[in-house]
Amino acid sequence: MDVFNKCYKDGGYLGMFRLAKDKYFTRPILSHYPGTEMEFNGIKTIMWSINNYLGFAENEEVKKIAVDTSSEYGASAPMGSRMLTGNTTLHEDLEKKLAQFENKESAILFNYGYLGVLGTFSAIVHRSDTIVIDKLSHACMIDGTFLAGGKYRFYKHNDMNDLEKQLKAANKLGRGGVLVVTEGVFGMRGDLANLPDICDLKEKYGARLFVDDAHGCGVMGPNGKGTSEHFGVMDRVDLYFSTFAKSFAAIGGFTAGYVDVIRYIRYNARTQIFAKSLPMIYVKVICTTLDMIENNHGFRERLWEVATKLQNGLKELGFKIGDTASPITPVYVPAEPEVAKQIVIYLREKKGVFVSGIMYPVVPKGIILLRMIPTASHTDDQIDKTLEAFKALRDDFTLHLDKVKF
Ligand SMILES: Cc1ncc(COP(=O)(O)O)c(C=O)c1O
Repeated sequence: MDVFNKCYKDGGYLGMFRLAKDKYFTRPILSHYPGTEMEFNGIKTIMWSINNYLGFAENEEVKKIAVDTSSEYGASAPMGSRMLTGNTTLHEDLEKKLAQFENKESAILFNYGYLGVLGTFSAIVHRSDTIVIDKLSHACMIDGTFLAGGKYRFYKHNDMNDLEKQLKAANKLGRGGVLVVTEGVFGMRGDLANLPDICDLKEKYGARLFVDDAHGCGVMGPNGKGTSEHFGVMDRVDLYFSTFAKSFAAIGGFTAGYVDVIRYIRYNARTQIFAKSLPMIYVKVICTTLDMIENNHGFRERLWEVATKLQNGLKELGFKIGDTASPITPVYVPAEPEVAKQIVIYLREKKGVFVSGIMYPVVPKGIILLRMIPTASHTDDQIDKTLEAFKALRDDFTLHLDKVKF
């Protein structure tokens, strides 16, 4: 049999969207330049779907650093992996700065967040170890868990009784160690991991804790250090991780933790050992955006102002936004798939408001999650126009918002 046979007839993982010739839920074509106004199919829209939390993607100072660095180094520097020829003082300085920012002893850079999680797990977790992971964790943590090749147990989302049950069961297996894995801010629903209780439990059962704070770093806590700072548990999180693809407006990721552990990851994370070093242009941009996060709290304050105004406005209109405690704004709307599609088209093409539509299995059948990401760059006028669009949506589609139990 030809290994390619499936490509000709089977839709595969997200293939049903391809088969339906979808251009709304998957691979929509947008204008090239990220910001609060972007073109979708030639229509100007207010953009609520990019994780540009602090607005750094269109920040002039950040752009200038990128331009200056590329004119100095080009796009290829440094050549080779960190292990061989791709290590520089700039990479090492950035790792020190990130460790300091997160009050950790050491940190390691990765080229993508996804690769960072895969590399960290597969370095640390061996066959006799167990990962105990929140069921709603991002795909990179699920894939990292499988790739690591150890044992694994899922616990119900943020359910501390179930976490305890799984920790007890993992400890019964004996031999290896246990790594508890969770997101800090959950990327789809915007709710927070119950880090204080998770810390109590992992300490009670002698486990270690990995927090992927992709949506919390730069956003949460009085100094933007993340969800662990928000809860006052920075020193109890054993491995703190974030991508640079969101608040930092770049590419890459880092894991921070104890010096011995990070050193071990550095010499064992195959996704980094066997990959080219993070390009200079990103190293310099991340140094700049980290500095801005640390020293200019105005960006984060504005982000929260925008988020609060948007979330309060939606609630006043009767929309349900669940138990988000972060800027991520999930709007739960009752709709079967065909109506859900019409809603997304209506918002984008009639109202000029771009939101992502997320359906089953992320949310129960019969609901569409309109996921909105406020940023520091959104204006009050854009929020007002968006709220008007949602009011019109509610009325034009006669939505029964009280039906949503979220
Ligand atoms: C929680 C979480 N972790 C990791 C990643 C992967 O990060 P990257 O895009 O840098 O690979 C994402 C990206 O969506 C994410 O949301």
